[in-house]
Amino acid sequence: MGETVTLVEMGPRDGFQPIGPFIETATKLSFIRRLAEAGFRRIEIGSFVSPKAVPQLRDTPELLAACRDWPDFLPQILVPNARGGIAAMEAGAPMIAFVLSVSESHNRNNVRRTPQESAAEYEQLVARLPPGLPVRLNFSTSFDCPFDGRVPEDATLALLDRLVPARPDAEICLCDTTGRVAPDHVGRLFERAIARFPSGPTWAFHAHDTYGLGLANAYAAYRQGVRVIDAAIGGLGGCPFAPGATGNVATEDVVWMFERMGVSTGLDLDALVGIAADAAALPGAMAGGRARAALLSRPCAAPGVSNAA
Ligand code: COA
Ligand code: ZN
Repeated sequence: MGETVTLVEMGPRDGFQPIGPFIETATKLSFIRRLAEAGFRRIEIGSFVSPKAVPQLRDTPELLAACRDWPDFLPQILVPNARGGIAAMEAGAPMIAFVLSVSESHNRNNVRRTPQESAAEYEQLVARLPPGLPVRLNFSTSFDCPFDGRVPEDATLALLDRLVPARPDAEICLCDTTGRVAPDHVGRLFERAIARFPSGPTWAFHAHDTYGLGLANAYAAYRQGVRVIDAAIGGLGGCPFAPGATGNVATEDVVWMFERMGVSTGLDLDALVGIAADAAALPGAMAGGRARAALLSRPCAAPGVSNAA
């Protein structure tokens, strides 16, 4: 059996969230459907957050209702507080991702709480969710904070010590919210975290590509055994509450890299490049990534001709 890696598509949430002009619900749903058809089983389709904080994602309940019953499909919903988590559960979300930041400044800016207050809220939420409901816990600013700079590894590990036991089967995602981390730091923190919880959770990594290190960082996480990697189609994204950060590492770049390494993603790169081009063309979108332009500019790139060879 060859190696595999699971990508989680962030475009409809992290990718669309900073885009100003409202993207019609039907357009969002069409992107979600095409991404699912390209092979994505798990897509973060939106968030249950204050519509004043993130107006673009205010139609997440409608999107969830439209796709939650698709076969073999896991729409993931981001939530910033217990209220959002309960609302998502009641709306039938099959996977809930709770977000908190390790650094106090970013957590206050993002969700108006200290990290310890958010940690307590996560503990209250998971106590109320059904035991079988898949949960993810996102550690924003695990490496670097837009306001405080480098985040001490011990701060991230201390928060893990508190929260991994709260729900031992939760997937834990360490997030480079700013895109300023370098691969040595990614590798070292995952090595220490994984060693700390030997029978531990499923680990995931979330990269932004602000300094062009998204792929290198994803590879550093992969080298430590991380097999769940977030990416956004077209490299869209950027947290509106993390000034200076650009988009997520581009899905098509990550697929290109892993497939070149012989690591299967189960995704259709040709289809993804087409979706990425459409995502990059959305009014107000700031796209990133390299593979899209490279694959589209190949002389043999004509309809029906595979670019992926
Ligand atoms: N979903 C929708 N609305 C919510 C909500 C949720 N989960 N939680 C709170 N709200 C609303 C309240 O109804 C209130 O609305 P109003 O101003 O119209 O009365 C407003 O948000 C503030 O309520 P409050 O109880 O003071 O909120 P809070 O302090 O518990 O939480 C957050 C504030 C977390 C909801 C808000 O900061 C937020 O949504 N941040 C978004 C974070 C985000 O998405 N970041 C990017 C991704 S990491
Ligand atoms: Zn992000």
